[in-house]
Amino acid sequence: MQIKEISLKELKPQDFINGQAKEISAQVGEGLAINALSGGVDSSAVTMLGHKALGSRLKTYFINNGLMRKDEPQKIVSLFKDLGVTVEVIEAQEEFFRALKGITDPEEKREAITQTFYKDVFGRLVKKSKAKHLLQGTILTDVDETVAGIKRQHNVFAQLGIDPQEAFGYNIIEPLVQLRKDGVRRVAEALGLPKSVYQRMPFPGPALSARVIGEATPEKINLVRLATVITEEELASTGAFQYMAILHQDRVTGIRNGKRDFGLQIEIRCWDSIDARAARPTRLPYETLDKLANRIVTQVPGVVSVTYNIAAKPPSTMEAV
Ligand code: XMP
Repeated sequence: MQIKEISLKELKPQDFINGQAKEISAQVGEGLAINALSGGVDSSAVTMLGHKALGSRLKTYFINNGLMRKDEPQKIVSLFKDLGVTVEVIEAQEEFFRALKGITDPEEKREAITQTFYKDVFGRLVKKSKAKHLLQGTILTDVDETVAGIKRQHNVFAQLGIDPQEAFGYNIIEPLVQLRKDGVRRVAEALGLPKSVYQRMPFPGPALSARVIGEATPEKINLVRLATVITEEELASTGAFQYMAILHQDRVTGIRNGKRDFGLQIEIRCWDSIDARAARPTRLPYETLDKLANRIVTQVPGVVSVTYNIAAKPPSTMEAV
């Protein structure tokens, strides 16, 4: 099935919102729907759109998979409370780490997260809530890369020939699937979301597990979480499309307090991009890189090497996994 793209130029945000709200109401009928909010611009836009269409017949969950950035669950719940939307947090950390145990291959990691999320956690929530529909914020770029076999984005099914009804026992509604990131931002703004949300930097569905090369253990996730706080603080003023810290699997010889330290490596990536299809590394001032490296080697335990990626997408991709 070919999806018809709505470009930023063609997009009329209010018409789009009204049209999609009608479509959601028609599909859900008198029934119930659920959705997962991660706090990113896509799932935030879907949450507002869904509540506009369904009111209290949409139940919104934040799935705490243990792979999110620091303090994320509390921040998102409180932000949406201010917008009048109740969000229930589902604690599923142990379940996700169990599913990720021993897995090093990037696509297998993505698949483990997809199955845990859609089959296990959502399967249970659908049964508990008696909802028949899941609303989610898949966008066209997710579909393109998955269908092209580049990366199995965690939220793409129909376009891979997977029937969610058969695989997971519920119907999936994707109101944003004709848009790219720039269009979603415009719609999110028109839905009344604050600038901190509609201009929020993208963050991948597999969360910090996409930023650990090799097995994503709780310890490694914790290290990359610390490096992420520092990276996001230091690069916030760059205005770049997306920036991230990646924890490598290989160790390298370092020296600390005059002793050999066979330590960890963090790679920094910072991207200029319009819609994530192509991207170039931001030309960061050396002083910025210097400060970033200094903070990471002193504040993230065990790190002795910090590198900056200078290759463009393609052939790189934005996330390392
Ligand atoms: P890549 O790494 O494919 O990333 O160049 C392009 C954009 O997509 C984000 N990304 C994802 N988003 N689910 C998502 O919702 C995913 O599985 C996923 N993988 C990557 C990435 O952060 C970047 O903005």
